[in-house]
Amino acid sequence: MKITVVGAGAVGATVADNIARKELCQELVLVDIKEGIAEGKAMDMMQTATLLGSDTKIIGSTNDYSKTAGSHVAVITSGIPRKPGMTREELIGTNASIVKTVAENLLKHSPDIIIVVISNPMDTMTYLALQATGIPKHRIIGMGGILDSSRFKYYLSQALKCSPLDLHAVVIGGHGDTTMIPLTRLAFLNSHAVSNLLSADELKQIAAHTMVGGATLTKLIGTSAWYAPGAAGAALVESIVRDEKKVFPCCVALDGEYGQKDICLGVPVVIGKNGWEKIVDYHLNAEEQEAFNKSADAVRAMNDVLKTLSI
Ligand code: LAC
Repeated sequence: MKITVVGAGAVGATVADNIARKELCQELVLVDIKEGIAEGKAMDMMQTATLLGSDTKIIGSTNDYSKTAGSHVAVITSGIPRKPGMTREELIGTNASIVKTVAENLLKHSPDIIIVVISNPMDTMTYLALQATGIPKHRIIGMGGILDSSRFKYYLSQALKCSPLDLHAVVIGGHGDTTMIPLTRLAFLNSHAVSNLLSADELKQIAAHTMVGGATLTKLIGTSAWYAPGAAGAALVESIVRDEKKVFPCCVALDGEYGQKDICLGVPVVIGKNGWEKIVDYHLNAEEQEAFNKSADAVRAMNDVLKTLSI
């Protein structure tokens, strides 16, 4: 098994670190455009082998995609992260051409590759990667919903004073401050609906905190977060390479499911060795469906911006 992570910044390096610690592959390639960064971080990670007990071979590469040849899965984290006060959408001008070039380069050397997109604005970058490569839709997966759901469970666990591990809670829709949809109606603490444990106001506040979860961290840290994004990326890769068939909310190409088509948007999917294998229908109520449609409108408007860029 061979896995590539493109972008050796904080998110990319953390994805790679988690993949190495979990021993998800024999060979891990870390690529970055900046001279020496990927080689340095790869070496730093390999020097943890005797301390962490994992001996994954990690190869750093400055923009040489021949080193990625034969990869089963690649994670794209390239591009600029947001600064405090910025939305993910404001990154499109810079990140679109980067993501397109990276996806094309990956495909050149690994024709059967499954691509996980983390770069922002993630829903549009996933759509772009699909259009640019033309590979079957099941092999392009945007990572956002897993992370947002993990943040949702964090805020719920704080309010409920429970372990996040005892919660089931899912965020669907876009991976944007105003486009994501925390499904409070379908959130459970063990077998109890959280709507029976918290007031409507409390739930509203938790949903609001979840939606700006990334922005809150960006404001505190001064740049975009990486621990949870890195762990979420690796969890997705793990379900692919171990064929776990876990259900994760991921950004995938919709063809009528959830009432939308010609768009990549977050819905629950089964993740296994073929990429995303099946969309799971959560039977949204009218209010949730309306929110999903609104989210789709906003993401579609962002996808339209791609047509105005010379990429
Ligand atoms: C975040 C970035 C990864 O939400 O989009 O932290």
